[in-house]
Amino acid sequence: MANFSLWATFGLCLLKLCLTETQFNVSCRYGGVFHVEKNGRYSLTRSEAVELCRALNSTLSTLEQLKKAHELGFETCRYGFVVGNIVIPRINPYHLCAANHTGVYKLSANTTGRYDAYCYNATGIRNTFCQPLGVYL
Ligand SMILES: *[C@@H]1O[C@H](CO)[C@@H](O)[C@H](O)[C@H]1NC(C)=O
Ligand SMILES: *[C@@H]1O[C@H](CO)[C@@H](O)[C@H](O)[C@H]1NC(C)=O
Ligand SMILES: *[C@@H]1O[C@H](CO)[C@@H](O)[C@H](O)[C@H]1NC(C)=O
Ligand SMILES: *[C@@H]1O[C@H](CO)[C@@H](O)[C@H](O)[C@H]1NC(C)=O
Ligand SMILES: *[C@@H]1O[C@H](CO)[C@@H](O)[C@H](O)[C@H]1NC(C)=O
Repeated sequence: MANFSLWATFGLCLLKLCLTETQFNVSCRYGGVFHVEKNGRYSLTRSEAVELCRALNSTLSTLEQLKKAHELGFETCRYGFVVGNIVIPRINPYHLCAANHTGVYKLSANTTGRYDAYCYNATGIRNTFCQPLGVYL
């Protein structure tokens, strides 16, 4: 996962979420789905995750979109919001990631925690796609 991480800084402000001098790791895209980690830690509420995806010209991924991405080879070791769930897509079992589970692992509902975001935008993007974000957004 770390190999695929891209680093980007944005200078734009939205309603509540000011992205100026905020740093993101943005993953490759699988079927239009990508992972976004803000400031190198779990730092997003659900509504902030929705705003962040919107700022990146995408929407919060649905579970179905994430499942398709997983089938295309997407895995991370980070809990992130999708619509209605908090998940980690896993392909290879690893005890430090999703408690060694494979598949799309769901965290039991936690409305108070902060996590990363899984965003979706398939427009004009090949299935598996790795380019610095700035090139396309
Ligand atoms: C990006 O990921 C690397 C390695 O996982 C981490 O050390 C770094 O803090 C992250 N940076 C941001 C801005 O999320
Ligand atoms: C997806 O990205 C394209 C190109 O940046 C943009 O025109 C479109 O509005 C985006 N779609 C969504 C749902 O945000
Ligand atoms: C993780 O899962 C794999 C495959 O199911 C299994 O072979 C392995 O022993 C498990 N490792 C741990 C630490 O539970
Ligand atoms: C919910 O998230 C909070 C903050 O991250 C954490 O302290 C708590 O243990 C979590 N609860 C469950 C049931 O996972
Ligand atoms: C989102 O798309 C709009 C219109 O295509 C563009 O002006 C804007 O710069 C894009 N946002 C990002 C973060 O790239």
